Amino acid sequence: MSGTVRDAVLSKAGRTAQWLSKAREPVLPPCRRPPARCAPLASTRATRAPDIARDHVNLGVRLRILWELYHPVRLLLAGYVAAVVLGVAVEGMALAAIVPLIEGGDGGIGGLYGRIIDLVGLDSTSDGSLVIVVGGLFVLRALTQYGSKVLASTMVRRQTLRLQVGLFRAYLALRWETALHISQGEANLLLTTQTQQTAQFLRKCVSLLEGALYSVGLTIVAVLVSPENTLIAVGLIGVSALAVTIIATRINQYAELVLSASKSQAGALLQYARGLQMLRAFDVSEHAVRHVEELADEREKQMYRSERVKSLAAVLPDLVFVLALLAVVALAFRSGDGVAEVGAIVALLFRVSQYLKRFSDLAALSELVPAVKDVHRHQRLFAENVSRPLSATTADDLSPGEIVLEAVRFRYEGADSVAVNGITNCVRPGEFIGVVGPSGSGKSTLISLIVGLLEPQHGRASVGLSTSPTRRLAYVAQSPFVLKGSIAFNVRWFRDISDERVTKACESAGLGELLRRLPQGVHTEVEQEGLTLSGGERQRLAMARALAGDPEILVLDEATSALDSESESAIQSALDQMHGSVTVIAVAHRLSTVLSADRIWVLENGQIIEDAPAGELLRTAGSRFAALGSLQGLHSEG
Ligand SMILES: Nc1ncnc2c1ncn2[C@@H]1O[C@H](COP(=O)(O)OP(=O)(O)O)[C@@H](O)[C@H]1O
Ligand SMILES: [Mg+2]
Repeated sequence: MSGTVRDAVLSKAGRTAQWLSKAREPVLPPCRRPPARCAPLASTRATRAPDIARDHVNLGVRLRILWELYHPVRLLLAGYVAAVVLGVAVEGMALAAIVPLIEGGDGGIGGLYGRIIDLVGLDSTSDGSLVIVVGGLFVLRALTQYGSKVLASTMVRRQTLRLQVGLFRAYLALRWETALHISQGEANLLLTTQTQQTAQFLRKCVSLLEGALYSVGLTIVAVLVSPENTLIAVGLIGVSALAVTIIATRINQYAELVLSASKSQAGALLQYARGLQMLRAFDVSEHAVRHVEELADEREKQMYRSERVKSLAAVLPDLVFVLALLAVVALAFRSGDGVAEVGAIVALLFRVSQYLKRFSDLAALSELVPAVKDVHRHQRLFAENVSRPLSATTADDLSPGEIVLEAVRFRYEGADSVAVNGITNCVRPGEFIGVVGPSGSGKSTLISLIVGLLEPQHGRASVGLSTSPTRRLAYVAQSPFVLKGSIAFNVRWFRDISDERVTKACESAGLGELLRRLPQGVHTEVEQEGLTLSGGERQRLAMARALAGDPEILVLDEATSALDSESESAIQSALDQMHGSVTVIAVAHRLSTVLSADRIWVLENGQIIEDAPAGELLRTAGSRFAALGSLQGLHSEG
């Protein structure tokens, strides 16, 4: 039974071989010997998965992190600080103008008030001019406050935007091996929530800074009125700040746990959303719900703990302030000081307390620290693991369409076996190579190395491409990917390709009939990830994308596995048409797809164990390819 299939295979291979010897051999330029520059590349860079372990961070390191993170807005930050300092100075002057009145004399800074009055040409003894100057100073202070608020929000907005876009760009440029270790849920959290939290951290920092500056300014004025009382108040405030700092450390610890729980939850949610079909089909959705519930519960538990400590931090400054006030009032009365002084001190302390409320921001600040640290860590990880530009695989000394593999070796991080183990070979421009082999033999890895997604740890994989605005290497991955958008958009794939070419590519990829059935043709919208298309349609769409770019090298990784024989033959004839002008490397599950190839590479354990035309391999007794062929024959017959 298998004999008939074998005969059919052999006769097709024979025909192909005949056709090859007649038509193509003189057309193909000779294959260059792999150049002698085959020295192993420098050892690979570290591609550790992001290690989000808690590390001890001292103040210097913290400041450096902040400086690096907020680099894009440092000018705005400087402007903001200047506005706040000006506001503090103006308020200080205004209060200093009033203080001598309370004291009934001319205080230290009171002299400054006199000078201002003189400067604006008013009578320094009249109450009217005092009202004008003090009123004017408070208007000026309101203006500086308005300015600082505008600067602060501009700063936060710009920071969020820059950070988000910058991280996204770096994520897209990440080495493929490193990217594989970052879950999509985690990346999503990082690029949305965590970047926003990092900007919020900045907002809270500046608000705290503003509070601290105003408190210092007001304390100076308070010292002028009553040094002893101010000292007591400041002492108590210090105690309060210390308590909040201790609480903040706890909040920080809880926040770390909340973040890691959030990540687990985000990762799980995204995975389950993507696996919706399989969860429903196996009727196991309830398990997914329970898992997410458990993760959410864990997160809520940590959040609740942190919330409790945060509330404590919020009430503490208030309590300390009231105690300070009571102590000051009691002391003033015991020492027989006037009611006026007590009144002034109370008023000043009240003002100070308004700013002190921001101490509780210290708690909220600590809650954001883990997110900020994590963003910074990822920023560094992304910067250290930038993938080499794809153009780096393009060798100038190769003709367009030529591929040279020189002792290429690749091992996935953490894997105990090598996925591609020292492959040396070369492909002539226009040659068609069929790649077969058992699953796990390294076919996809080899393809990724040729495409430039992976960098070999040893050796070199180079492709020859002519310089052109769009990369003329096309790739159809094992699992086709489709974005939400029209079919035309998915075929064009951000490149400058005419409508005509898009339609032609769709026809060649066997999408013609589908497009004729759809009222909107190529402008039909495809739902996210192409879930409204059949598996075969998605594959043909991916093929159309590859063909539309007029490739010099076409790399296919089981690109026709989901196709019926009719659609496959459409693609087959497209490949036949390109034969001789486009270099094709096609990993095939079905041997029939690659029978017309110039050469077959049989991969096993990451090595090419057979490399010859199909016909030759089939005739060779005991060849692995013949074994695979008869296996498939049995398959199709049974
Ligand atoms: N991201 C990865 N991390 C670790 N090991 C991997 C990864 N991808 C593939 N592998 C392993 O590398 C080997 C080759 O895989 P692959 O190239 O996908 O094989 P094929 O395409 O021939 O089925 C397999 O043993 C596989 O388990
Ligand atoms: Mg594969």
